This record gives sequence, C-alpha cells and structure tokens, in this order.
Amino acid sequence: TQRVLTGITTSGTPHLGNYVGAVRPTVRASRLAAVESFYFLADYHALIKVGDPARVQRSTLEIAATWLACGLNPEKVTFYRQSDIPEIPELTWLLTCVTGKGLLNRAHAYKASVDKNTASGDEPDNGVTAGLFMYPVLMAADILMFNAHQVPVGRDQIQHIEMARDIASSFNHLYGEHFTLPEAAIEDHVATLPGLDGRKMSKSYDNTIPLFAPKEQLRKLIMGIVTDSRTPGEPKDTQGSALFQLYQAFASAEETAVLAKAYADGIAWGDAKQLLFERLDAEIAPMRTIYDELIQDPGKIERTLQAGAHKARAIATPFTARLRHAVGLRPLD
Ligand code: TYM
Repeated sequence: TQRVLTGITTSGTPHLGNYVGAVRPTVRASRLAAVESFYFLADYHALIKVGDPARVQRSTLEIAATWLACGLNPEKVTFYRQSDIPEIPELTWLLTCVTGKGLLNRAHAYKASVDKNTASGDEPDNGVTAGLFMYPVLMAADILMFNAHQVPVGRDQIQHIEMARDIASSFNHLYGEHFTLPEAAIEDHVATLPGLDGRKMSKSYDNTIPLFAPKEQLRKLIMGIVTDSRTPGEPKDTQGSALFQLYQAFASAEETAVLAKAYADGIAWGDAKQLLFERLDAEIAPMRTIYDELIQDPGKIERTLQAGAHKARAIATPFTARLRHAVGLRPLD
C-alpha cells in the first residue's frame, strides 16, 4: 500500500492556502482504500517561528479541529501531534549526521533570512536560529519515520521534500535500504494560492483568509481582495488575477470557464467577488458547522490526538530501534 503523509505547522489559524495545498488533497486521498495516511500537527516546527506558548496551543487546537471538520476519519488514518512522538527528534539527529551542511545552506527559508540581513547591511546570520537552519532535517524525519511515498503539499514545500529524498539516499547509502524515497504530490490546477494582496497566501504576509472565518467576515475579506482599476463593462484579465485563481481552486473546470467568459465580457469586480464568496461558502459552510462544534470540545480533540500518538508510536518505536541498530547504537531497554 501507498503511504501518504502531510503536516501543518501550528503557528497560526489555518487558512485557505493550507486547505487547498494540504488538507483537501490529503483528505481526498485518505478515502482511497489502497492508501494508508498519516496527518500531523507540526508543533516542533512551530517553535522555530513562534515563541509564544499560548499561540502554539491555540493553533494546535484549531488545526486539529480543521482536519477533523474537513472529513478526516481518525479511525482510518493515523492522526497525531509531532511532539507526542519522541522518536522524531531522535531520528532528526541520526539524519543530521548524514546531511551536508551545504545542502541546508541552500534551503529557501534559511537563504531568504540571510539575504534579507545582507540586503539591509546586517551580519548574514543575525537573528537566524539553528532551528531555522535545521528545519529541513526535522521535516525529513517526519516523512522518513513513516516511509511515506507521497507527500501532498503546496509548491512552497517542494524543495523540502527533495531534501528529504537526498537525506534518505545518504542514509541508505551508508547504512542500507531503510528509507523509501518520498515524492511531493501537488494538485496541478492549484499552483500557489494567492492571498488578499495577490502575493502567496501566507501567515508571514498577513494576507490570509482564515478557512473557518464566520460567513460575514469571509464575505468582507473577499470584498477586500486586490483587483485592478478596470470598470464594469471593461474586459478583465484572468492572468494574474488573484480573484480568478482563488475561484479556480474551488470551482469545477466548467464553472471556471464560465467565469473566464464573464471576465472577457467585463463583469464588475463586485459581482465577481460575490460569485467567489458564494462558491467558497458552499464548500466551506458544512465543514464550518462541524468546526464550530469541535472547537468547543478540546477534551475530545485531545483524546483523539492521544489515540493517534499511540498508533504512530506503534510504528515509530520499532522502526527507530531498527535504525539505532543499523547505525551501531545500543538497543533501549
Ligand atoms: P505550513 O504550515 O506552512 O503549510 C501547510 C501546508 O499548506 C500549504 N500552503 C499552501 N498551499 C497552497 N497555497 C498557499 N498559499 C499555501 N500556503 C501554505 C503548504 O505548502 C503546506 O503543504 N513545513 C511544513 C509543515 C511540515 C510538513 C512536514 C509537511 C512539517 N513537516 C512533513 C509535509 C511533510 C509547513 O510549514 O507547512
């Protein structure tokens, strides 16, 4: 059976980009009989950016409720919190020792921080933690621990999956074939979902549309999406239109073709936004009802996560024992 795995960092409120890039494709894949899926809350990763315990905890609850509301069946899949699996940081160390420092120097997130410092005349590594530098190794441990074949992610994560492959190959080369080489699984009609300002929707840009914003807030946010200054009646460009790309991520090919025609016919921006709002709300509203209930019951979510941790460790503990043996460490008592 194919194994599918993905995680979301618990650093904020889940947004439409997370839904389209990770949650929706994974929940769909998990319904296929031939697939074994692993979903997790990447809370060790959150510590790299967040230094606020309350925020990490709130986000963990929100993201867990999101997975469940979007239709994940915790009986059928393995659904857990990364930090409940102590074997993950152990594997991170084993992998660190076969990872070239040069490989990590090339990671986009690390390089972006260094380039920003350099551009503003600072020391290159000013404020850059070793955690940010090691981010791809921790992520490789997440994936390799469960020998995932497919990793559904948004495009921004492709480089990390490639690094996980490189790290797995280095380990396999030295110690034998222990790891499956993972592949990124990307839905091609959704590249990178744009945010309110047209840039990539991202917590770091503060341009997100929360997946479960109350209906009226969702409408308001959508009305605030940037558009150009073309007036009603003037033909509009679908190319580079954030509004169009958002619609496309939620509509069928036929519906998208209808909107493309309306753009050519000069639909007013306000009307196009209303169409997007209706399309989005039709998909989200049923899940929002479930989410609003779940978020009131943290105890239930906690029990679900603990049961998931138990299932995950049933794989991680023996696999880590095998890896310890492979590298020459003593078995744990
Ligand atoms: P994170 O938390 O930044 O994002 C979670 C998922 O959402 C996708 N995503 C997007 N997709 C399309 N358009 C967007 N605007 C957009 N914004 C976010 C991301 O690509 C991601 O799939 N490092 C990961 C979490 C992680 C992980 C893993 C993922 C940790 N270990 C192992 C897969 C496998 C991250 O920070 O994602």
